[in-house]
Amino acid sequence: MGIKFTVQGEAVQKQELSALSGEVVRCHEALHNKTGKGNDFVGWVDLPQNYDKVEFERIKKAAAKIKQDSSVLVVIGIGGSYLGTRTALDFIKSPYYNELKKDTPDIYFVGNNISSAYLNDILQILGDRDFSINVISKSGTTTEPAIAFRIFKQLLEKKYGKGEAAKRIYATTDGAKGALKEMCNQEGYETFVIPDDVGGRFTVLTAVGLLSMAVAGVDIDAVMAGARASMEAYAKADIWQNECYQYAAMRYLFYKQGKTIEILANYEPHMTSFGEWFKQLFAESEGKDGKGVFPVSANFSTDLHSIGQFIQEGGRYFFETVLWSKEPKTPAILPFDEADGDGLNFLAGKELQFVNSKAFAGTMLAHMDGGVPNMVVEIERMDAWHFGALVYFFEKAVGISGYLLDVNPFDQPGVEAYKKNMFALLGKPGYEELTAKLEAR
Ligand code: PA5
Repeated sequence: MGIKFTVQGEAVQKQELSALSGEVVRCHEALHNKTGKGNDFVGWVDLPQNYDKVEFERIKKAAAKIKQDSSVLVVIGIGGSYLGTRTALDFIKSPYYNELKKDTPDIYFVGNNISSAYLNDILQILGDRDFSINVISKSGTTTEPAIAFRIFKQLLEKKYGKGEAAKRIYATTDGAKGALKEMCNQEGYETFVIPDDVGGRFTVLTAVGLLSMAVAGVDIDAVMAGARASMEAYAKADIWQNECYQYAAMRYLFYKQGKTIEILANYEPHMTSFGEWFKQLFAESEGKDGKGVFPVSANFSTDLHSIGQFIQEGGRYFFETVLWSKEPKTPAILPFDEADGDGLNFLAGKELQFVNSKAFAGTMLAHMDGGVPNMVVEIERMDAWHFGALVYFFEKAVGISGYLLDVNPFDQPGVEAYKKNMFALLGKPGYEELTAKLEAR
């Protein structure tokens, strides 16, 4: 297996983990037998094996067409219909994917905020270049992507006419319902289906993530192969044979000890958005009924020069999980300098990855000395296969840790509260009573 999970130093609590092993088996069975909370939404568990192979080929075909007729793909979506897709591109390709030399279209993400400044910047970048749209919304009714879709759809229709524009719109949504699905039926857009039993934050391995990955030239077969390898590696109920379950159980133990925040730290800017995806996955899955570990992310060594002080010496209510790639994406060597004014010649000829690895080891030891438990999720390299494998590792972990907490890890009722207030304050028909109450406040 290409992922190695370890708990560092004294933090390994073998006795406590052993005591939890029965509970972990119960959670495993609830997940696999579909008898636990939210069991209508566990389609992701065997997705790496049971995905729609016909649609998978259609995704590749659509990607080939987009590559051939567009220099930009505008991807519209928010939350689970955005973060995984963005993460895949940054992790497998680069956060500078658009700027780097390549023979695939640029990809820009919109509909993930309501900022007019952001929108105008993207419109300016787009200019009069040929483009296509991938609009992604499981419900088909989310406000942020709906606003962006209206704007970019009008732009597309103005540029190409309604008929040609419709051939450049790819919609990824529910198979049967929602405003977006209805528009697809009326306008004849090519449509990809988000399976009913896969919730938004678990959709990166569906057409949600796969279409833009394929457009960017990612080997999506390798992504699914990595996910499948994880699926097989983490299928055992026994905690001592399942590192994913060890991670889930350790999180739970730390939580019970008052460590209520988890920092997912990385040492690679290519992993920054992986931290954003992780935050949604764990926050929406666990944060309910007054419970849950609050997930945050940190980008080292950058953040060691900002929040590093707090991690070392501040309140002791968090633990750290480091996501580490053994190999760098591309190597770089520190050159020799005759004058040695910076005193760095003792490192001349060394790989930057070597320096990074010492920053990692030194930081981990310092944080542990400061009372911060540390765990490590290590991969060989940042490629398509390992991306698929990691996605599944964290999805499986959150399923188990959610069940350990005895919450429904697959719903997100709390996300609705802000929407209701926003609609009421905007004067949406049907919200009159709430509008009056909120305005009084
Ligand atoms: O986890 C969730 O379900 C949400 O955060 C959604 O991902 C987000 O609201 C986008 O929803 P939709 O895909 O329905 O537009």
